[in-house]
Amino acid sequence: MTFSVKLFFDDDHEAAISCEPDEDVISAALRQGLILMSECREGVCSTCKCFLAEGEYSRLMSHSVYALSPAEEEEGLVLACRLRPASDLEIEFDYPFSMVQQYEETERRGSLDEIEMVSDTVMRVVVRTLGAQEPLRYLPGQFVRIALTNGVSRDFSMANVSDDSRRLEFFIRVYPDGEFSSYIARDASPGEQVTLHGPRGKFILRDNERTPMFIAGGTGLAPVLAMLRQLATDHADRHAVLIFGNTNVGDVFGGEELKALGARLPNLQVISSVINPDDSWTGRVGTATAVAEEYISGRGGSEFEYYYCGPPKMIEATNQMLEVAGVGRELRHHEDFVPSRMEESNG
Ligand SMILES: Cc1cc2nc3c(=O)[nH]c(=O)nc-3n(C[C@H](O)[C@H](O)[C@H](O)COP(=O)(O)OP(=O)(O)OC[C@H]3O[C@@H](n4cnc5c(N)ncnc54)[C@H](O)[C@@H]3O)c2cc1C
Ligand code: FES
Repeated sequence: MTFSVKLFFDDDHEAAISCEPDEDVISAALRQGLILMSECREGVCSTCKCFLAEGEYSRLMSHSVYALSPAEEEEGLVLACRLRPASDLEIEFDYPFSMVQQYEETERRGSLDEIEMVSDTVMRVVVRTLGAQEPLRYLPGQFVRIALTNGVSRDFSMANVSDDSRRLEFFIRVYPDGEFSSYIARDASPGEQVTLHGPRGKFILRDNERTPMFIAGGTGLAPVLAMLRQLATDHADRHAVLIFGNTNVGDVFGGEELKALGARLPNLQVISSVINPDDSWTGRVGTATAVAEEYISGRGGSEFEYYYCGPPKMIEATNQMLEVAGVGRELRHHEDFVPSRMEESNG
């Protein structure tokens, strides 16, 4: 028996596809010429997360709890790449239909142009793509997969906006045993070749009048910097709030970038916090999520559109905090820096 699946996008556009009981929704859409947003198609990255408004399924195929937690599934969220229908379905996606058509993945060759430590644990890396290819076009907040010549590849979010310069700027956390990050920090040298796959991801600025609140944990600041830089170009008078949290004082980076943004976005309020302060620290103490919770309490959480990015635990805590604060799903957009080597299956 073939089921009918209605797809609803956040610009009120609708589409309909058919789906076999042994077929997942992403594959069914592809078969019918629709490229829905997806990346790993194995239940790991969460790019295909969406809301099941109507219909039934017996069980999602195996997936990482970081991509979809049991609490999220309870709420009605599903991973389209892991979803096989057991009835007709109605599914809501939190991105516009235009992104379905525009989502065209490309490959670029490039080289490492600059590598510098900008705090005890974070490096700034600039990749320059080759002049023989068109510059990579992407939306602020998106990411690429960077593949090294030794075969290791990881996802990283661009911190700069897309332009003709061919420069892509990244902020990368260095893990002492990190296959990718420690290689770049210790062994790589400028000029070394890399391959970029993308752009990927739907963590992008929504075009509305609501005040954006950005909550960034560590290098989760990277895509937020790209969004703020775009905002400074398009709407310099906009009010915006950035809560930037780190574990230790030595982890904090981005001072120069945020200062420059402050000059271009005079209504940007930046609140920095660390969990473990030292005598020199003059900012807030606590997690970014706790500082955000305090900020919105008394103000009414629905005043803002939320963009949050960082490690899985921070995303989970922020989801819970906003849920309790009564902030609707349509106002929450996040990118989860799911580490490739911390996958855990619950399916
Ligand atoms: C969409 C997306 C965008 C991303 N963008 C960025 C970015 O802009 N900047 C950035 O720094 N990272 C980003 N990441 C994370 C990045 O892709 C890598 O997972 C991370 O850099 C670790 O890779 P590695 O090879 O250095 O470490 P691995 O060899 O994969 O892991 C080394 C060790 O570190 C641990 N580890 C890795 N990540 C974490 C973590 N988050 N929390 C706790 N322990 C961890 C692992 O368990 C392992 O023990 C992003 C991830 C995704 C999915
Ligand atoms: S595409 Fe990665 S979880 Fe579905």
